[in-house]
Amino acid sequence: MAQKIRTIGVLTSGGDAPGMNAAIRAVVRTALGKGINVMGIRRGYAGLLNEEIIRLSARDVSDTIHRGGTMLMTARCPEMRTEEGQREAAGICKKYAIDGLVVIGGDGSFAGAQKLAYLGVNTVGIPGTIDLDIACTEYTIGFDTAVNTAMEAIDKVRDTSTSHERCSIIEVMGRDAGWLALWCGIANGAERIIMPEEHDYDEEAIVKDIVASRERGKKHYIIINAEGIGDTINMAQRIEAATGMETRATILGHMQRGGSPTCKDRVYASVMGAKAVDLLLEGKTNRVVGYRHGEFVDFDINEALSMSKEVPQYQYDIAKALAL
Ligand code: ADP
Ligand code: F6P
Repeated sequence: MAQKIRTIGVLTSGGDAPGMNAAIRAVVRTALGKGINVMGIRRGYAGLLNEEIIRLSARDVSDTIHRGGTMLMTARCPEMRTEEGQREAAGICKKYAIDGLVVIGGDGSFAGAQKLAYLGVNTVGIPGTIDLDIACTEYTIGFDTAVNTAMEAIDKVRDTSTSHERCSIIEVMGRDAGWLALWCGIANGAERIIMPEEHDYDEEAIVKDIVASRERGKKHYIIINAEGIGDTINMAQRIEAATGMETRATILGHMQRGGSPTCKDRVYASVMGAKAVDLLLEGKTNRVVGYRHGEFVDFDINEALSMSKEVPQYQYDIAKALAL
């Protein structure tokens, strides 16, 4: 029979993402509503190892659903990658009687949750990253807000780029994945998207296209460059030299990770937080919550970490076709 859960811990790990607070709030209030204690662990796995553990009440998560960032703070913790660190973390969970742990983060954070599950701590992961690069799910907390933030910023760059008839190269985040670049590319009507998934990215072809598009009467040339490709400032200098078109580089940076979460991020994060608690109360462990084909689902973490997903070529081709 599944062990009865009395206390659930919750932490955020890796890069913060707008909507994490909505997920924390949902974990806290779902659990408290079912008579379960909740412990908030500050600063991710680093805070777990440092025993930065606080009891959370329903009021502690008041006034947080609309705020960006994570009220529990987050961190990256190299020690958690070691067996010693993992054993220590599991021991601390036992010391605080945390018999269920909700980990909000990306694949790296799930790997930590997987190790804790092997060591007897019941764990459930919730996908939280602006990068959308978690294979088992079509939705990750924060992507919707980040992509809208980036889109609005790029619209502004476009205004000035058009007025000056310039080329603008705008770098968006996404680590090794091109989801933010692809979505902004389509939403902002960019002339060119450069993503890490496009292995044969050809700068000479871009130069030719800039010249040709000018001849077709285009007033600007917007390139969305993924941070996984990077080199944006040098790229702008090379393109200006090769085309004779004034070129400016903009790196959007961490502003993409902040701000009040969109409605979608608040709602989906709330559902995922509640579902994570329900899974633990059903006696499940080593699971990760996802969203697929219109439904909130869950997977074994081992299975989730072995999955892969590709940025859709069809959408990329459409973006190219629409830049006519
Ligand atoms: P994300 O969770 O967004 O993928 P990271 O890859 O930075 O972000 O991972 C966040 C944290 O998860 C790391 O700092 C580390 O504490 C933990 N972690 C990452 N990989 C592992 C691993 N293989 N085993 C155990 N813990 C890990
Ligand atoms: O994973 C989220 C993310 O914002 C990535 O897009 C980016 O590569 C990375 O985190 C930046 O991390 P840091 O906040 O450590 O600079």
